[in-house]
Amino acid sequence: MKRLTAGLVALLLSGCSNYAVLDPHGESAGSISELLLLFFWVCSIIWLIVMLALAYAIFRKRPAVSGADLLLGAAEQNRQLTAIVSVCVAITFLVLTGLTFSSYIAGKAVADMAQRGTLTIRITGYQWWWDVEYEDTRPDHIIYTANEIHVPVGEAVKVKLESGDVIHSLWIPSLFGKRDLIPGQHNELTFIAEKTGIYRGQCAEFCGLQHAYMGLTVVAEPRATFDAWRLSQLMPAAAPKQDLQVGLNVFLTRGCALCHTIRGTSAGGRVAPDLTHIASRHTLAAGALDMKPDQLARWISDPQAIKPGSKMPWIDLNPDEMRAVTSYVGSLR
Ligand code: CUA
Repeated sequence: MKRLTAGLVALLLSGCSNYAVLDPHGESAGSISELLLLFFWVCSIIWLIVMLALAYAIFRKRPAVSGADLLLGAAEQNRQLTAIVSVCVAITFLVLTGLTFSSYIAGKAVADMAQRGTLTIRITGYQWWWDVEYEDTRPDHIIYTANEIHVPVGEAVKVKLESGDVIHSLWIPSLFGKRDLIPGQHNELTFIAEKTGIYRGQCAEFCGLQHAYMGLTVVAEPRATFDAWRLSQLMPAAAPKQDLQVGLNVFLTRGCALCHTIRGTSAGGRVAPDLTHIASRHTLAAGALDMKPDQLARWISDPQAIKPGSKMPWIDLNPDEMRAVTSYVGSLR
């Protein structure tokens, strides 16, 4: 039944590429998906009944009646009508109460998870990327990254949401429902990824020109793999080998370092994504491109062609400088 519904809804939504909300891999997403299926079936059945009643009313054969019959039947008809309306009002009331109650149960299940968070990630939305910080009481254990988070499978993860400019909304359909990031306000959500995998998150509140390219990758992995990732992210960038030194010099002297941080170097800008381990991520430019050498070269050489309006400027580099800086950034694993 669940598959049939998913298939039906998928068919209706075939214009939208992402209907992973019907394929939940997390506890909150599961509650939301069950609620959606309940609403879908209840509303479909009601629609069908109304259509059948309408068809019956239109096509039924009416008996020939005289004026006297009409007068005599008026009182009886009134009684019938009152009975039908009363039954319909009662059914509507019961259905709406049932749906309201199931919404409350699903909302409560999602809210109750907040008590269980073991790992806290702070995500700040900017036009058009996600700044990520893994909180830790020990300052030297805080991870800074961007546009991609890793989480241990089966563990509750608390996410604190803030915005650095306009209203954004974080939505990872397979794992949880939308939650807004509002300037000056602090929102939170908690989720559990139940299966390992790579999930696509998306900004779900129109926030400007590149709203569509404000993606977040979520990697859910076993605890041991997560711990290894965490350790690797804590490290500063490896000192560049001889041939990559030129690329680092270009990065430091041609403006890149004013906006980006690469820990372990003197680049400490905080207005753009932290690039210390950028090559370990799956995507570039918040999901606009894949993390591949040729796409990285395209991004650095003409960011405005790929994400017009983004704050990443075009920088006039000669071909040698371009190759050097691309190789260096591409080496930051
Ligand atoms: Cu951020 Cu849409």
